Amino acid sequence: MKQVAVVYYSGYGHTAHQARSVQAGAASVGGVSAKLYSVSELDDAAWEELDAADAIIFGTPTYMGSAAAKFKEFMETSSKRWYAQAWKDKLAAGFTTSASQSGDKLNTLIQLMILACQHGMLWVSLDLLPGNNSSQGSVNDLNRLGCTSGAMAQANADQGADAMLESDLRTAARLGERVAEQVLRLR
Ligand SMILES: Cc1cc2nc3c(=O)[nH]c(=O)nc-3n(C[C@H](O)[C@H](O)[C@H](O)COP(=O)(O)O)c2cc1C
Repeated sequence: MKQVAVVYYSGYGHTAHQARSVQAGAASVGGVSAKLYSVSELDDAAWEELDAADAIIFGTPTYMGSAAAKFKEFMETSSKRWYAQAWKDKLAAGFTTSASQSGDKLNTLIQLMILACQHGMLWVSLDLLPGNNSSQGSVNDLNRLGCTSGAMAQANADQGADAMLESDLRTAARLGERVAEQVLRLR
């Protein structure tokens, strides 16, 4: 059984909701198991599970145009793995939520991608064409925020995670599914 780890931080529950969709998408692929890890609860055993995973998908809300500080702490703690290049050749991918339609989310995904590159990991893109970009489109389209480097979600600042759009959650699930599909291609 191949293992996909979804490591995330969420201050107010939106990115946690997105993370559950990523995990469900990965777990929907036969021969792949997927597990969620909150950076707030990572103990030594969990770090060892990350070391053993075939892929690690990183998720953080966008705070002040970049990864949340608590996720940045995880990034810096992962430098212990970087020294040994312990995650080299694992697959990696990323997702983020913010309140604004743009909200500078791309910067967060680029941070996650560079984290993966520093670890020698292989970045998996999102293989969904952009939605909601024509007169026929709507917010219900998959990849309605039009991103290719990872999965984006937008959540209104005055609403909880239960109000997040199904299109964003299904987009997140597709990212997880795609990573799982690619993991199965690894020898
Ligand atoms: C400290 C802080 C900074 C934020 N910065 C941004 C931002 O740069 N762009 C944006 O669109 N939303 C920003 N937001 C809104 C969050 O991205 C948004 O509420 C998101 O859904 C929070 O995810 P979470 O519930 O997983 O913490 C910020 C929120 C906080 C608390």
